[in-house]
Amino acid sequence: MPSVFIKTYGCQMNERDSEAVTAQLVAKGYSLAKSESAADVVLLNTCSVRDLAEQKAINKMKNLVGTAKKDRPNQILGYMGCMAQSRGQELIEKLPDVDLVLGTQKFHRAAEYLDELLAGKREKIVDVEAEAKSEATIREHLLNGSAKTSVSAFVSIMQGCNQYCTFCIVPYTRGEERSRTIDDIVAECRELVARGVREITLLGQIVTSYGKQLPLTPSLSPSDGERVAKPGEGQIKKMPFVQLLDAVHEIDGLERIRFTSPHPKGYGDDLVEAYARLPKLCESAHLPVQSGSDRILKLMHRGYTRERFLAIVEKLRRAKPGIGITTDIIVGFPGETEEDFELTLSLAREVQFDNAYIFKYSQRRDTPAADMPDQVPQAIREERNHRLLELVNEIAARKYDGFIGRQVEILVEGPSKKNAARYTGRTRCNRIVLFDGSARHQGQLMDVKIERTGSFTLYGDPAVVNL
Ligand code: SAH
Ligand code: F3S
Repeated sequence: MPSVFIKTYGCQMNERDSEAVTAQLVAKGYSLAKSESAADVVLLNTCSVRDLAEQKAINKMKNLVGTAKKDRPNQILGYMGCMAQSRGQELIEKLPDVDLVLGTQKFHRAAEYLDELLAGKREKIVDVEAEAKSEATIREHLLNGSAKTSVSAFVSIMQGCNQYCTFCIVPYTRGEERSRTIDDIVAECRELVARGVREITLLGQIVTSYGKQLPLTPSLSPSDGERVAKPGEGQIKKMPFVQLLDAVHEIDGLERIRFTSPHPKGYGDDLVEAYARLPKLCESAHLPVQSGSDRILKLMHRGYTRERFLAIVEKLRRAKPGIGITTDIIVGFPGETEEDFELTLSLAREVQFDNAYIFKYSQRRDTPAADMPDQVPQAIREERNHRLLELVNEIAARKYDGFIGRQVEILVEGPSKKNAARYTGRTRCNRIVLFDGSARHQGQLMDVKIERTGSFTLYGDPAVVNL
């Protein structure tokens, strides 16, 4: 049987899609190649969010074409994922040696298309059509190989995004929001837990919009938590996403629940209250803020103000003291002045994020922001990136140091990639902890005492081991 190698760019959604396609192919008898050069099929699962990610995948494919021509003339080469979706046929026109372009709603067809290509029945396949119900078509998991995935798993709950932030290409590459049903998701989570998974991360581009399209009873009519749940109204009505959290929380044997990415506007009282109410829901929230300036937030079409964002952070910290709050920030959005940027700096100082991912604005074609006036010169984007990075790193390092001497619960994922004598686990607030461990710690929830910190890492000593 043929062997396959998949290289993944981009976000956790892409990681999950690659895993599901790999599992699909393994179920059909494919083996996993150790390297690209040893594989019969090489697929690049691509990201379009920033230009750099696209360039990386294009350059990689050029290299693959070069070596395949020399050493493996029958090797099948394909693009899948976001760039495949947004560029389609154009990718084959640019690089005629590419055989397959598989869009984001077609992952379940990977095996069928590869069979046709390998058998020589078709020469090229480009499929980037929309497909109804594709959000529920792949749910295979690979839980045997890597130790990490057997303890912790990702479950896709929805696809697409209807927010249309003006800088973002995701609504075009992933399509309209479509959600799987609660029953379908819970069934998948149960299967995973039965196979030893103890932590599940619910995934989607905008998980707080989960279920808006699903038919639900009128009392549970989908809408933003913000609108459904006003403080002081007595019993809080729950938006579909919180109903899903409740349902997943019921699963016996599951220890931890996480999700990514939410949208700040989805943090109504029902979701905030869920953190206090559901012990399995880990105290960690990735809250992409993008900018600290109301003027820029409006141009970005984010749907909240700085004040509202700060209020959400405060509510979360009140509901769950010690909650880890991380964010995404874009610098150099069109029209961003020094004053706007300073508002972002002051927001970062005010919130004291546990970690922040900073991105230099990248023009994406067909997005509204690409044509906005006052595009910020590259040198200024670089300079703001540097200044903000310095600030958020300094704050993050201080926060890490605050853990020294504390005892924290970690879920042990497996041996560290860099040093096999060390084991790696995560705190509930999603920080990585390294400690001297062994195979018997694998998959355990245990307490460690933090002794020192490194760059975005805590070093712990197993104080009490719950075996
Ligand atoms: N909600 C999505 C967001 C995807 S993009 C999720 O699942 O995480 C991830 C981050 O990339 C965004 O939060 C934003 O900060 C950044 N980003 C998106 N488009 C960008 C662009 N055109 N230029 C720079 N950064 C961008
Ligand atoms: Fe992109 Fe905004 Fe949706 S960042 S994924 S359009 S919430």
